[in-house]
Amino acid sequence: MSKAIQIAIDGPASSGKSTIAKKLAKRLAYVYLDTGAMYRSITLLALEQGIEASDNQALRALAEASEIVFKVNADGQSVWVNGKDVTDEIRTDQVSQAVSAYSAVSDVREVLVEKQRDYTKGGQGIIMDGRDIGTVVLPAAELKIFLTASAEERGQRRFLENQAKGYSEMNLEELIADIKRRDLYDSTREDSPLKPADDAIILDSSDMDLDQVEEAIFAYVNKVLSQN
Ligand code: CDP
Ligand code: CDP
Repeated sequence: MSKAIQIAIDGPASSGKSTIAKKLAKRLAYVYLDTGAMYRSITLLALEQGIEASDNQALRALAEASEIVFKVNADGQSVWVNGKDVTDEIRTDQVSQAVSAYSAVSDVREVLVEKQRDYTKGGQGIIMDGRDIGTVVLPAAELKIFLTASAEERGQRRFLENQAKGYSEMNLEELIADIKRRDLYDSTREDSPLKPADDAIILDSSDMDLDQVEEAIFAYVNKVLSQN
């Protein structure tokens, strides 16, 4: 049997990272970690407690004290912070609009990256999705995918998702503008900007449906597994 590997899936907002990562994790019986949900959780707490993105010390203390737990359920997974289910709350417009500013804070990133690496300690197969997984969190990952699509296509996908789940009040144009704003913020920050790792495979899924993306990435996984 081939050894369990680490898989990093990075890319801009709403490119399909978490949907694909969840499907692959199920197929491979690997652990899946949604690192974006961790940044969203800290943002939610900071907003609730009135902590500004400029207050590095308070944000470090908040991130250190926060217990973020993922529970697998029929829908995929729920996210719990300090004993409370925040699965839906972390997807609201308020959190989406603030999350990039809080994620740019190095004190927050240091604490969360350490918590993310803790998941690899058992040596089990793992898939993480985010912005800096291939570049910072798991630089030795055997497979790194940078999943992207045009902002218009990504906005459309998120719009349909929001309509189904009731997360957002934004119309399609507002959503596309918000996604572009967040991508720009995430890719131009100083600490761990969104960018493909040098050894990442770049996959543009603008014209691919979910099944096609899943199969394309699964083929890369199999190739890597056959070499390990
Ligand atoms: O699902 P969506 O693409 O909208 O975003 P997400 O993956 O939930 O991530 C939300 C935000 O968290 C991103 O816009 C980044 O600002 C931040 N993030 C990050 O800085 N590093 C990561 N590894 C994951 C997310
Ligand atoms: O995790 P990330 O923000 O990159 O994206 P996601 O939450 O996995 O995907 C955003 C939405 O786009 C979800 O509703 C997916 O089902 C949908 N999607 C799609 O319709 N076609 C794709 N090729 C990828 C994602």
